Amino acid sequence: MSVTGGDGVPFSDRDFAAIRDVITGYCGISLSDDYHARLRRVVMTRMSRCGMDTVTDYLRLLSPTMPESGELLRLVEEVANTETYFFREDFQLQALARDILPELIKLREPRRRLSLWSAGCSSGEEPYTLAMLLQMSPLWARGLDRWEIRVLGTDINRRMVRKARAGRYRPSSFKGLTEPRRRAIQARFFRVEGDLFSVDTELRGLVSFLHLNLLDRDGAGLFGEMDIILCRNVLMYFPLPVRMRVLRAFYQKLAVGGYLLLGHSENLLGLKTPFEVHRLKDALVYRKGGSVFGAHSDSRWER
Ligand SMILES: C[S@@+](CC[C@H](N)C(=O)[O-])C[C@H]1O[C@@H](n2cnc3c(N)ncnc32)[C@H](O)[C@@H]1O
Repeated sequence: MSVTGGDGVPFSDRDFAAIRDVITGYCGISLSDDYHARLRRVVMTRMSRCGMDTVTDYLRLLSPTMPESGELLRLVEEVANTETYFFREDFQLQALARDILPELIKLREPRRRLSLWSAGCSSGEEPYTLAMLLQMSPLWARGLDRWEIRVLGTDINRRMVRKARAGRYRPSSFKGLTEPRRRAIQARFFRVEGDLFSVDTELRGLVSFLHLNLLDRDGAGLFGEMDIILCRNVLMYFPLPVRMRVLRAFYQKLAVGGYLLLGHSENLLGLKTPFEVHRLKDALVYRKGGSVFGAHSDSRWER
């Protein structure tokens, strides 16, 4: 089938499939057939910006042999779902604060260093939430505030990374909170700037942001071992082989004893991985087991 828009440019099922496959190969995101009309609109806009008349010409711009065009990344930035808000899936975050943090803090006491990574952080609400959880923990006043703490947020979308670094948010970013909690969080961690809420300096100091494609093989080499990785509402858009590839990279990046948290519609059940599955009161979480002498063997991965 070929759909021709008001702009007169045909966009066939084959065009859709070709562009969708290029996107999946680059960043993992796999668009369902329902996305046909939306992708057509985005592609038409991008083509007119780039001065291209046919989808075939535009596809050449997306080729891995033309990375300097930057067009593939621009297209991905248009299609990726970037929905996020503070304290999203709070039941899991409460499990993190109640069960995981105290355990890890005991484990890491000798080195007094803790690293958390929000992978696919969009505009930054998730990593700032992690920093708030740390500062709200009773352990903060009992010495955690003197640890070397690093919360890293990464995303493929440069616009979102810029927004995250700016740290200024609309009221809609607080939609996951009840009214009294929203007010308390805003009063403690934000400054009002007109219609926006700006993250306060102390919280900002704990968090840094990087532009990173999770499929970039060298990317995670830019930073060290992690104690906690949150990758929520990201892997659900990836086909299974890509999901497995990213999970392997997370496993390598985690310190022994570290935890991986996924979104509520994403889980490792039924997949063969070396992660230990832990059922906390309200959440399923995944731990890199093993001892100080090393992690579980790599042979536990699905082939
Ligand atoms: C739906 S948002 C989720 C944000 C946050 N984790 C949450 O749960 O609220 C998904 C984010 O993943 C990012 N993303 C998708 N594919 C990615 C990739 N290959 N590398 C890095 N980020 C990616 C998107 O740009 C988007 O900002």
